[in-house]
Amino acid sequence: MSGQINGGIIQRYRKFLPVSEKTPLVTLNEGNTPLIYAETLSKLAGSNIDVYLKYEGLNPTGSFKDRGMTLAISKACEENATAVMCASTGNTSASAAAYAARGKIKCIVLIPSGAIALGKLSQALIHGAKVLAIKGNFDVALELVKEITNKYPIVLVNSLNPCRIEGQKTASFEVCDCLGDAPDFQIMPVGNAGNITAYWKGYKEYKAAGLSKKLPVMLGFQAKGAAPIVRNKPIKEPKTLATAIRIGNPASWKSAVAARDESGGLIDMVSDKEIIAAYKILAEKEGVFAEPASAASIAGLLKLINNGYFKKFTLSNKEYKIVCILTGHGLKDPERAIKTVKPPKVIRPDLKSIIKEIGY
Ligand code: F0G
Repeated sequence: MSGQINGGIIQRYRKFLPVSEKTPLVTLNEGNTPLIYAETLSKLAGSNIDVYLKYEGLNPTGSFKDRGMTLAISKACEENATAVMCASTGNTSASAAAYAARGKIKCIVLIPSGAIALGKLSQALIHGAKVLAIKGNFDVALELVKEITNKYPIVLVNSLNPCRIEGQKTASFEVCDCLGDAPDFQIMPVGNAGNITAYWKGYKEYKAAGLSKKLPVMLGFQAKGAAPIVRNKPIKEPKTLATAIRIGNPASWKSAVAARDESGGLIDMVSDKEIIAAYKILAEKEGVFAEPASAASIAGLLKLINNGYFKKFTLSNKEYKIVCILTGHGLKDPERAIKTVKPPKVIRPDLKSIIKEIGY
């Protein structure tokens, strides 16, 4: 008995994925994340534009990585692999560790020492992965993982593994299923560039299958201190407080550029200051808590609204839809949240003190 009730992305989108009857299902019922209408952001965007948030932080391990990992680990189990390995800025390692635990397969993760958010580190550790922190950044870690998985019988589960991209493309299927078609614009953060590659592939496949009519304009955002695609050269020492996208030499560079160019979109950058401002707006005005890297989507949206980008493309008598991808949950990085706002005021435990503070 499989015991699955709702199932995950493999069951729902089986015919678009490289699976057979023989593929074991290693799932935590990932996907099916909400597309949330963003009232404040829609108002800012303009009267004929609706903004939606694809809240990928509501996946089982709190990020979009679960979509790719269910497939990558299921295929690794089908092939009787004994171990999987990845380099990570945090979320990939959390997801790999959880799905490997579920699939009863060994998991090894290489992370940049001191540079991943606490929530993510705790996940990799509690799921029993072998966690190794290197004195080097993500790009160095990924090179090492590529070398090791080439030499030893260990399956690489970074997004260089095509199963990761195949699984992640299901998010664009969900967006189309929810809106009845693809949106006009999609905004998302870009780090190692696997996700923009995956979404674009998904949108094209859904359209080819007759399940959607149009393709979105793809708008990617990197952090200013870690923007190799924007600057058109690898960054040796990428810097940003959005640790998830602190990447200087993305593995899927070429396919991200292809997604940008084929869709008539752009890949631009936002500063840490803009990311934090967007992070706060999202939490305070929309009630959605996403991690800083995800807030790069919203910082990008605000940048494009402010520089008149959408005005150039939209006609006032037509309705437009923008989908912003919120890739990871805010709880992944509680330290950042606490650093961003004032700590709670400590007061005496009596009615008078409380009433005075709350202004009644
Ligand atoms: N947002 C979050 C929350 C991420 O964790 C990542 C990537 C991205 C955006 C960028 O996606 O790499 O496909 O362009 N995190 C990877 C990791 C690198 O190791 O967890 P991308």
